[in-house]
Amino acid sequence: MEPSIYLYPDIFRRTHLESPGEIPAEVIFLQEVWKRHRTRPTRRILDVACGDSPHGRLLVDDGCEVVGIDRSPTMIAAGRRKAGGGGRLRFYRRSIEKFTLPERPFDAAIFMSETFPVIVENRELLSHLKCVGRALKRGGLYCIDIDRQDPLPRVARRTIWRERTARAGDIPLGIREFHRPVAWHSPLHSIYELECTINFPGGPVTTRDLIPVRYTIPATLELAALASGVFQMVAAYTDLSFTKPLDKCRYRWIGVLRRV
Ligand SMILES: C[S@@+](CC[C@H](N)C(=O)[O-])C[C@H]1O[C@@H](n2cnc3c(N)ncnc32)[C@H](O)[C@@H]1O
Repeated sequence: MEPSIYLYPDIFRRTHLESPGEIPAEVIFLQEVWKRHRTRPTRRILDVACGDSPHGRLLVDDGCEVVGIDRSPTMIAAGRRKAGGGGRLRFYRRSIEKFTLPERPFDAAIFMSETFPVIVENRELLSHLKCVGRALKRGGLYCIDIDRQDPLPRVARRTIWRERTARAGDIPLGIREFHRPVAWHSPLHSIYELECTINFPGGPVTTRDLIPVRYTIPATLELAALASGVFQMVAAYTDLSFTKPLDKCRYRWIGVLRRV
């Protein structure tokens, strides 16, 4: 089996169409959300599916304490290296579907990089929300970043979607993205396949990741929050704006849940 792109933490970011300055802009926006929706200072943050926690590093620079959870030991190791000493950014290897942490309750949790829809099954979704809810203080906020999901034509077989090149430092990358067939009764919006050929000087390595994407719109997130019994949805903001209505959303939206 081909390896996952998450074995190469410094390369995976180059495979996404991320614009420069995107993560600092997201962190500023999250801090604004916390100011709007919490009366108390927001200092202790849980970063869910944190990878090497680029958001956590910026929040720590702003005086926060951040705990990241992720299942990938390689991403966590990269996060620990980049975090340096000081202990204000800590990592635990956990599955997001079911976890507990030996930590005091958090003021807020974040789930960035449009990864939340990888939780496909209803039971796992509710279990995830309950676990995050248990980790938060009452009134704590959970901000979830989700791509706008337009209807996709159903494909009968694996179909190429996009193909491009990129670089990670001196290393050329060949990136191909595919769509996979999805059953009509599936909760999935799509199955995204990411293939990346990393042209290392010693020879190429091809990674492959299959990423299920559950159909997730504000109404379904609101329903999941209610069904979990631990959250209610208090806002859905589009494209890092407080004023743009959902109808005008171009790329993605952030759902804000409050721990009841
Ligand atoms: C696209 S990366 C985003 C990382 C980080 N939030 C960022 O913005 O750079 C997605 C991360 O989710 C993690 N992940 C995916 N499914 C997971 C699961 N079921 N449990 C724990 N981590 C998971 C992967 O290991 C990966 O590090």
